[in-house]
Amino acid sequence: MRNLLQCPFYDEKCRSIASRILPYGPSRTGWIIKTRLSDRPPRLRPNGRQPKTSSLFSGMIDMDKNSLELGVNTRLAHCGNDPREFHGFVNPPVVHASTVLFPDSATLVGRSQKYSYGTRGTPTTDALASAIDELEGSAGTIIVPSGLAAVTVPLLTFAEAGSHILIVDSVYNPTRHFADTMLKRLGVEVEYYDPHIGAGIETLIRPNTRVVFTESPASNTFEVQDIPAISKAAGKAGAVVMMDNTWATPLYFRPLDHGVDISIHAATKYPGGHSDVLLGTASANEEHWQRLHDGFITLGCCPAPDDVYQVLRGLRTMGVRLEHHRKSALDIAAWLETCPGVASVLHPALPSHPDHAIWRRDFSGSSGIFSIVLAGGGQKQAHAFLDALRIFGLGYSWGGYESLAVPVSLADRTTAKGPYEGPVIRLQIGLEDVEDLKADIRRGLKAAASA
Ligand SMILES: Cc1ncc(COP(=O)(O)O)c(C=O)c1O
Repeated sequence: MRNLLQCPFYDEKCRSIASRILPYGPSRTGWIIKTRLSDRPPRLRPNGRQPKTSSLFSGMIDMDKNSLELGVNTRLAHCGNDPREFHGFVNPPVVHASTVLFPDSATLVGRSQKYSYGTRGTPTTDALASAIDELEGSAGTIIVPSGLAAVTVPLLTFAEAGSHILIVDSVYNPTRHFADTMLKRLGVEVEYYDPHIGAGIETLIRPNTRVVFTESPASNTFEVQDIPAISKAAGKAGAVVMMDNTWATPLYFRPLDHGVDISIHAATKYPGGHSDVLLGTASANEEHWQRLHDGFITLGCCPAPDDVYQVLRGLRTMGVRLEHHRKSALDIAAWLETCPGVASVLHPALPSHPDHAIWRRDFSGSSGIFSIVLAGGGQKQAHAFLDALRIFGLGYSWGGYESLAVPVSLADRTTAKGPYEGPVIRLQIGLEDVEDLKADIRRGLKAAASA
């Protein structure tokens, strides 16, 4: 392979402007270089990324300062990459990379150029990470191959042998499995707490508590946690607060604004939006970014470029999709409250939900997933309901364009177990027409009633 130094165009003159030229290496058609279209020296962010700019504006506008004044769909359409940084193409390149070439040995040894190796970031991962930073208000974002990895990498990074961590009892089950197996094996003491604990978390915090892990609303049962109160108590004790914010997305809740240190997303869900990609993000505040980034680099848990690109693509339409999910889910949830055969609907945006007041105080919207409790019966009735559905698919995950239903098991819970009047069924409301979905649910309820 040709070496950059052998390139006929690479001379002393090139070297003198090397700091403004980022070599990507040889391509079939010549040397691909990326130049900044502004002579202004870049203001590097703590993660080494440049400030975000938007082609919407004639000047180099810093999206950090202006983004909160823009509407959410405008921000989603323009966050992340600046088209002017790559020849005007609206979308960033999908960079498939392990090796990155350096112009000389001093730069190589010092790794003193923006990109140095594929695991450490590319223009593609930077575009998505910058977009997420803009939405979350974070100092830096790591991108990992799944939502579960977005949970495990921060936990592995901040938990230490001999430390104690607190995890909400209603957490996503694979998070619990990771804590109960790998973290315990590494000498971490794991304790589960009631999702309604609020400021009472203070009584559980010990001198060696390193992490307080939250997820709100809860997986499957949708309890809403008092995140500001928990963050305040944990922060006072020096514990790192992490939140799985997948349900709300940064459009409906920004954890860092409420005292959380690390906001976690299964980007597989609403950001991806099409049930065809797995990805996760974890975004940290200034204080915790460096360590989170070090942990990410140490673990080598980097994503595939095509998946990153797919999620950035999905992000552009997430606001429009989410609004549709929100409206349809709320309509169906309210209707379900009136349906015979349904004991209760576990959706925090319903005034009947026990945690509605906290949800209203902290969240600006609701997404498309909630649960129903059937009025009595057991597994037989739950399976009859599920097997009668024709539009809802039976399958895990959510946030895609299509509706899904799954039975909920609370067998792993220690405190957040109910009681519930009957079997719990989780519904992910997709983008289909609401009347068709209601007809499908009616079919399910009829089957459950006669089972
Ligand atoms: C709340 C929550 N967090 C994390 C994940 C994990 O995401 P992934 O499927 O991308 O690993 C899920 C998946 O269902 C989830 O529901």
